[in-house]
Amino acid sequence: MKLLVIGSTGRTGRHVLEQGIRRGHQITAFTRRPEALAGLEGLAGVVQGDALDLADLRKAVPGHDAVITIVSPPNLGPTTVISQTTLNLITVMKESGVRRIVTTSSRSIVASRPWLAVTLAWVIFRAAYADLARAEGILQASGLDWSIVRATMLNDKPGSGEVHTDSEPNPTGGHWQLSRADYAMTLLNVVEDPHMIGKAIGVNGARSTR
Ligand SMILES: NC(=O)c1ccc[n+]([C@@H]2O[C@H](COP(=O)([O-])OP(=O)(O)OC[C@H]3O[C@@H](n4cnc5c(N)ncnc54)[C@H](OP(=O)(O)O)[C@@H]3O)[C@@H](O)[C@H]2O)c1
Repeated sequence: MKLLVIGSTGRTGRHVLEQGIRRGHQITAFTRRPEALAGLEGLAGVVQGDALDLADLRKAVPGHDAVITIVSPPNLGPTTVISQTTLNLITVMKESGVRRIVTTSSRSIVASRPWLAVTLAWVIFRAAYADLARAEGILQASGLDWSIVRATMLNDKPGSGEVHTDSEPNPTGGHWQLSRADYAMTLLNVVEDPHMIGKAIGVNGARSTR
């Protein structure tokens, strides 16, 4: 597939690029910092730009089969980065006839268990979560072929090649942590699978804690 990755230089984004290239996808990386991708071979292209700028997205989106967006705000303060990126992508994708979009989110947006962990996470990440929730709603109402992939807590351990996924607000199994490498694998699995269109799925590490 011809994939555009927004948030390509991030800790998950970098895994999406590397794994996606290995799977044979033609990947364009969108980033404000192209220099962060120096040395990465096999990309179909790099577009320098800011996802908050419609003109930058118009240079990048046309001609792709799908967009994977993995954007995260830089700090804990009030933010509209994720919801504004989502709004901008919807505008430009509709203009250019690109319909498929897969986006990252957090399980905490919809989870109620484990109560203490979810409550603490909302206290700490309130601004980012509020914006993620806005972005989810905007995308679900977009009319595009969307998928939302909500992760549990991420770490940078090596990938295991396995994850637990479900379609429930609270995890039905798996581990409370997930490696970014395995999250990237899941994002690619979802973008490749048309059955995932219109679905929000939760992802945990594979090892059961039960
Ligand atoms: N941390 C967790 O435990 C956790 C849990 C659940 C879900 N998540 C979600 O998982 C995703 C991946 O997290 P991560 O830790 O791998 O991310 P990260 O390393 O913090 O990377 C963030 C990315 O966002 C991009 N970005 C930010 N503002 C941008 C803008 N205006 N235009 C274009 N790109 C922009 C950055 O790209 P450039 O600077 O190169 O432009 C960077 O590549 C995030 O969406 C996060 O919400 C995280």
